[in-house]
Amino acid sequence: MSASKPRIRILDQRPETDAILDEVCHGLRQRPRRLPSKYFYDAAGSALFERICAQPEYYLTRSELAIMREHVAAMAASLGPEVLLIEYGSGSGQKTRHLLHALGSPVAYVPVDIAPAALSASGTALALEFPDLEILPICADFTTRVTLPRTRRPARRRAVYFPGSTLGNFDAHGSVRLLRQIREAVGSAGAALIGIDLKKDRAALEAAYNDVAGVTAAFTLNMLARFNRELGADFDLAGFRHRAIYNSLAGRIETFIVSRSAQDVHIGGECFHFAAGEAMLVEYSCKYTAEDFARLAAMAGLRVEHCWTDAAQRFSVQYLVPMP
Ligand code: TRP
Repeated sequence: MSASKPRIRILDQRPETDAILDEVCHGLRQRPRRLPSKYFYDAAGSALFERICAQPEYYLTRSELAIMREHVAAMAASLGPEVLLIEYGSGSGQKTRHLLHALGSPVAYVPVDIAPAALSASGTALALEFPDLEILPICADFTTRVTLPRTRRPARRRAVYFPGSTLGNFDAHGSVRLLRQIREAVGSAGAALIGIDLKKDRAALEAAYNDVAGVTAAFTLNMLARFNRELGADFDLAGFRHRAIYNSLAGRIETFIVSRSAQDVHIGGECFHFAAGEAMLVEYSCKYTAEDFARLAAMAGLRVEHCWTDAAQRFSVQYLVPMP
């Protein structure tokens, strides 16, 4: 055996560039304008996101990792042995390592992410750490129907791992639809383990999405740089700024990209005029109480069997099973 890097084969089920352009222009024609947040994650965006996770104000990742460390044995016991583990929005796969160590002979790990760079980096790192584990990465938008690959060994059970409060990045309709899709993907004997951020005071929430070092601002504006590069747009990066505010009525952080002045932007042969101060909505980060989330899950035919939280009750990891 050579000590060279293991080679990871990524199944490409990515959207076409034409589809991205259509989606971006469609969002820009809406009022208020919207940009699809999944396009945050090119190579630079994925790297910036990892830096967000390490910012002192961004408590989410640290709280979720603390929950994983403390309760991973109970999570693994709930999931049982010989599981096929599918992860949505796997990113760096840092949290997954804890789960994979605790699981009893998992059959395979299928990370699904829209960012090819993050997928190959995490796939290679995990292959080194778990040489006997079958790893089958899929580069795809996980909201579309992802075709699961064949595994070498048959699985006793399918489970979806969906950490990072990424479910909170969908509106009420989108999150129920996605939960239903998860229920379908795992089948009636399956399970899901979902990381959900909890409601808390406005100051802590707004600080998490407006870090003083400006990493989150760089992350959101990177999307415009990406559209310039990949779609031939002409966004003036200095002409826009990041803004994140907590909408307490809706229970969510709303992230915007705001035009600093009146200006025109060209993309896909169209000209979009921005007024000074005009805000484009780029992301929701919904926050829940345990009851809010149980209600949402029930709407998708899923029942919460366990809810683990950190000592400060900032974050939760919830174990769900399909309702009969
Ligand atoms: N799932 C993460 C969250 O909602 C994604 C995220 C973190 C994010 N920081 C952001 C999205 C800033 C947009 C802007 O916390």
